[in-house]
Amino acid sequence: MNATAETTIRDIVTEDYRAAAVFQQHGIDFCCGGNKTIDEACRGRGLNAAQVLSDVARACATPDTSGQQFGAWEPPALVDYIVTKHHGYVRQAMPTIAAYTRKLSSVHGPNHPELIEVERLFAGVVAEMTMHMMKEEQILFPFIVKLAEAAAQNRPAPPIPFGTVANPIRMMEDEHESAGNALARIRTLTSGYQPPEDACTTYRVGLQELEAFEEDLHAHVHLENNILFPRALRLESELR
Ligand SMILES: [Fe+2]
Ligand SMILES: [Fe+2]
Repeated sequence: MNATAETTIRDIVTEDYRAAAVFQQHGIDFCCGGNKTIDEACRGRGLNAAQVLSDVARACATPDTSGQQFGAWEPPALVDYIVTKHHGYVRQAMPTIAAYTRKLSSVHGPNHPELIEVERLFAGVVAEMTMHMMKEEQILFPFIVKLAEAAAQNRPAPPIPFGTVANPIRMMEDEHESAGNALARIRTLTSGYQPPEDACTTYRVGLQELEAFEEDLHAHVHLENNILFPRALRLESELR
């Protein structure tokens, strides 16, 4: 990887997703803040850019054998993957995790009042993500697939029902930020998903599931904000 302090977080994570774990450790937002350069992201958090770059280089030193070089995928395949893998997971995980947060808040809320706030925050994530994924699947993603098909077949751009694709993209990015912020707040409230001494099994498993949900959300939002959406914007401007 030939990254410098001027390379964007987006480009680094798109080239090799193993860099995401390094950014996560340094508290650098790689999915909603992906358009920042390493230098900008580090300055904002008082980090040493050279150190972060050397950590990235170490994490990505061996060849990437994940088979997931999503930057090279065509939009229809990427949309399919996002919907099957990430939307599928979110839909399956949300009811289970919401049930955990309700149980934790009612059983342990008296001793751990932060769990009441966790329940409220996660209920907000469920409501928001349910609508959000529906908008992507019914409106934005089919339009992006049409753009890609038109470009592949040398046809003009399909009629654009929302002025420019930048409009729904901006809305989706705002919603990503809102869900990401709610999960970041849950992370803080639970001291990084660390169960306290007196935690029962439900408590521990509930926190593990929340942590897995946040991790999946970051991977999911990365594919949309950093790969699919910039691609759709480029396609639209090329077809005009
Ligand atoms: Fe999505
Ligand atoms: Fe999304």
